[in-house]
Amino acid sequence: MRYYKKLPATLVTCVLMGAIGGAGAGDHDYGPYPAYYTEECGSCHVPYPPQRMTQAGWETQINGLKHHYGTDASVDAPASRTILSYLVNNAGWKDKLAPADPTARITMTRWFVKEHGTVAPKGKKFSDCSQCHTQAATGNYSESTLKTPVGWRHGQ
Ligand code: HEC
Ligand code: HEC
Repeated sequence: MRYYKKLPATLVTCVLMGAIGGAGAGDHDYGPYPAYYTEECGSCHVPYPPQRMTQAGWETQINGLKHHYGTDASVDAPASRTILSYLVNNAGWKDKLAPADPTARITMTRWFVKEHGTVAPKGKKFSDCSQCHTQAATGNYSESTLKTPVGWRHGQ
């Protein structure tokens, strides 16, 4: 403990938060994701951040993989258990992160609609996060990596 006492309090706080959250609070960096998650859930779209939906939402997603938005995204039972426990262990808990449609779209949760509005850029879908969050594939949604299409304004 003597070692810590010599460090400035703010630095200790940063180190501790880094250890707990993987990143400083408020910078919206949810990576790095485990490789199995990126492989199984990041080939058709970016792997979505587990923190941004509740456990109920992720259970709905994993239970429905056989009929996943018009495609079969099912994985074998062990993989499915591993992915579900990763998602659940990192899931959000606030009301605004709860699924708001039967298929549990992250883009229909209350926080998402509040931050993004309901009108995606022309010809695009909100589910394609990396069109604006340029580092979404690695879980980084911080403001410094955000680049919105010309002419699109969120909240419309
Ligand atoms: C074979 C391709 C494929 C794979 C693999 C896949 N998905 Fe999807 N996923 C889709 C498609 C297609 C959509 C619908 C996109 C749309 O309509 O905007 C989708 C949508 C979603 C959505 C809702 C996005 C929204 O609009 O909010 C979630 C959440 C999701 N997938 C989670 C997962 C998870 C978790 C896995 C891994 C177990 C996974 N997906 C694997 C094809 C895939
Ligand atoms: C068309 C552009 C666009 C797309 C697509 C998009 N976002 Fe965003 N996102 C934004 C903008 C703009 C903001 C900043 C809103 C603000 O705070 O002013 C934002 C903010 C965020 C934030 C920080 C919000 C907070 O709580 O402070 C997260 C996390 C996020 N987006 C996740 C996602 C995810 C996950 C997807 C895909 C499912 C996605 N976004 C798709 C434009 C986009």
